[in-house]
Amino acid sequence: MTRRVPVAGEQPYEVAIGAGVQVELALVLAGTPKVAVVHAPPLAAAAGAAVETLQTAGVAAEAVVVPDGEAAKTAEVAAGLWEEFGRLGLTRSDAVVGLGGGAVTDLAGFVAATWTRGIRFVTVPTSVLGMVDAAVGGKTGINTGAGKNLVGAFHPPAAVLADTDLLAGLPEAEFRSGMAEVVKCGFLADAEILRLLDADPTGRRDTEELIERAVRVKADAVGEDLYDTGRREFLNYGHTLGHAIERLEDFGWRHGEAVAVGLVFAAELAGQAGLLTRTEVDRHRDLVAAMGLPTGYAGDWARLQQVMRVDKKARGASLRFVVLDGLGNPTILTDPDQSWLDAAWAAVNEGAT
Ligand SMILES: NC(=O)c1ccc[n+]([C@@H]2O[C@H](COP(=O)([O-])OP(=O)(O)OC[C@H]3O[C@@H](n4cnc5c(N)ncnc54)[C@H](O)[C@@H]3O)[C@@H](O)[C@H]2O)c1
Ligand SMILES: [Zn+2]
Repeated sequence: MTRRVPVAGEQPYEVAIGAGVQVELALVLAGTPKVAVVHAPPLAAAAGAAVETLQTAGVAAEAVVVPDGEAAKTAEVAAGLWEEFGRLGLTRSDAVVGLGGGAVTDLAGFVAATWTRGIRFVTVPTSVLGMVDAAVGGKTGINTGAGKNLVGAFHPPAAVLADTDLLAGLPEAEFRSGMAEVVKCGFLADAEILRLLDADPTGRRDTEELIERAVRVKADAVGEDLYDTGRREFLNYGHTLGHAIERLEDFGWRHGEAVAVGLVFAAELAGQAGLLTRTEVDRHRDLVAAMGLPTGYAGDWARLQQVMRVDKKARGASLRFVVLDGLGNPTILTDPDQSWLDAAWAAVNEGAT
C-alpha cells in the first residue's frame, strides 16, 4: 500500500511513502527531456535503478555522483554540479532528482534551486531522517566554514518519493537516529506515534505508518509556513539543546542522538515550568531510552548555554525553547528562569552514562 501525504503551499506536492514507490519517478517526470539523478556512492545501485526507470519512460536520465554525507554539502561540490549540469545541457524544462540521505537531498535541492534560477526538483529520500524531515518542506542548502546550512534556498520539491524498500541498506544507527525525529513528532502532535513506539520502540514493526504520521506532522507545519516564521518553529522541539550538543561535539554525534537528549531536556524544562507532569516528563525519557537513543549528556553547561544563545532559532539574545504545555500542545518558552534551566540540565547530566 502506498501512503500519500499532501503538502499545501503555493505549489502543493505529495509525499508518497511505500515499498517500491521509486518507480513513480516515471509518472512524476514523464515528458521531461533530461533528468540528473544526484546520489552518493552508497546509493549507486538505487540511483542506477532510478535512471533505468526514467530511461524506460523515455526520459534521458543520467546518474551524477557526489561525495557521501556532509562532505556533499560544500560550495566546491555545488560548483562541480553546476559544471556537470552545464555539460549535460540541463535547461529549465529539465529536472533534478536528489536520491539519498538528507545531505544529498539538501545539496541537490540547492543546486536545483540555483541552476537557471530554479529547475524542477524531486526528492527520493533514503534515510528515515530524509523521509520525515530533510526531503520534505523545501529547505535546501550547503555548509560553509562559518556554520551548517548558512547558504541555501527555499525550493520545494515537485514530489517526494519515500521508497521504504531502500531503508533495508540503511545502517542501524542511522535508522535509530532518524526515529528521534519521529518520536519528536509524536510528542508534538500525534499520540498514535507514541503508542506505536511504545509497542515496538525499534520502529521496525510499523515503519511505514510511523513515517507517514511524522510526515503529516511536518507537512501540517510547513504547508502554511514555508518561510519559517510561525508554526514551523515547533518542529524545533528538542533542537535548541540538540544543536548545541552537535556543535560542542563537532558534529561527531548523529543529529537524532543530540535531538533525543534535547527532547528530554525540553521535557524537564516544561516540568520545571509546571507545563508537564512528572509522568509526562518521564514518558519522554522512558520512550527515548527504549528506542536506544541517549537521554543524558555530560558536557560543559556554561558553554552549552553560550551556544544555545547564538542558535539561529534563538531570535536576538534571548533563549527560546519549544516546550509542551501538555503532550501534543507546543508553545514557546522565552528566557526561562535560570533555576529551571539548571534543574533541567542536572536531570540530563545525571542521565549521562
Ligand atoms: N532541509 C531540511 O529541512 C533538513 C532537515 C533536517 C536535516 N537536514 C539535513 O540532513 C542531513 C542529515 O541527513 P541524514 O541523517 O539522512 O544523513 P546523511 O545524508 O549524511 O546520511 C547518513 C549516511 O547514511 C547513508 N545512507 C542514507 N540512506 C541510505 C540507504 N538507504 N542505504 C545505505 N546507506 C544510506 C548515507 O550515504 C550516509 O553515509 C544534514 O545535512 C542536515 O542538515 C535538512
Ligand atoms: Zn532535526
